[in-house]
Amino acid sequence: MGEAHHVTQAVHNDATEIRGARAVFLGPPGAGKGTQAQRLAADAAGLAHLSTGDMLRAAVKAGTPLGQEAKGYMDAGKLVPDEVIIGLVQERIGGGGERTTRLESWILDGFPRTLPQAEALDKSLGDECLTRVVAFTIQPEVLVKRLSGRRTCANCGHIHHIEFHPPKADGSCRSCGHAELLHRSDDQPEAIRKRLQVYEEQTAPLLDYYRGTGVLKELDADRAPEAVYQELLQVMK
Ligand code: AP5
Repeated sequence: MGEAHHVTQAVHNDATEIRGARAVFLGPPGAGKGTQAQRLAADAAGLAHLSTGDMLRAAVKAGTPLGQEAKGYMDAGKLVPDEVIIGLVQERIGGGGERTTRLESWILDGFPRTLPQAEALDKSLGDECLTRVVAFTIQPEVLVKRLSGRRTCANCGHIHHIEFHPPKADGSCRSCGHAELLHRSDDQPEAIRKRLQVYEEQTAPLLDYYRGTGVLKELDADRAPEAVYQELLQVMK
């Protein structure tokens, strides 16, 4: 017993207080959006983590027409066309048509990334506005090291880093023990440079779009994952 037990307990309680979230995680590639969203979704019952990057990578792996179209854009570090991604997200959160399958509580990680995507999201939500937009802020110099060292479990998708969050000693996944960890094809120097440029040009302007809405909170992502998570729990309340 002791302090460690109480800390774990407190974190658990805070995450379970998150209900009915309609949240967006915004930030440059490598800021830690996926890492934090995975943990929050595991701790908060009923909270869905919707990563457009993960959806697209699953489509690429399955060889669907969507995946075949998206692969070239992704490998080059460019955004896939708005009309492709907007349809995909509307399908998942239940907007834009029949609303019977609407999810109760979700985080969108990696969407919206352009002004047309943000406007389409507002339209799909109708009267139900976003409850929170979390902007992950970080110095660009840190991102290249984070991205080039990232390894993702081929089985459960758990995100590792060779230095900052290493796999188990035998090289397997810390979460499920699977042996194969993947190095993303867009985590290569040229694609990383392009993704950072695309973020500045097309996605960073969304900060101004959301600034006037009252739901935007900035989160200093240039700290240890645990410190970022503790503050995330506060801003998600
Ligand atoms: P996507 O998969 O969304 O990639 P991204 O936005 O570039 O974000 P990342 O996944 O690279 O970074 P992250 O912030 O999640 O960081 P992570 O937690 O993994 O998109 C990929 C592609 O799909 C796009 O380029 C585009 O082509 C397409 N696409 C997707 N959505 C689209 C859309 N809406 N419109 C058009 N196209 C779209 O962390 C990174 C590394 O850092 C990890 O190794 C992690 O372990 C480590 N780390 C995390 N936090 C910390 C910390 N606090 N300290 C130290 N290390 C840390």
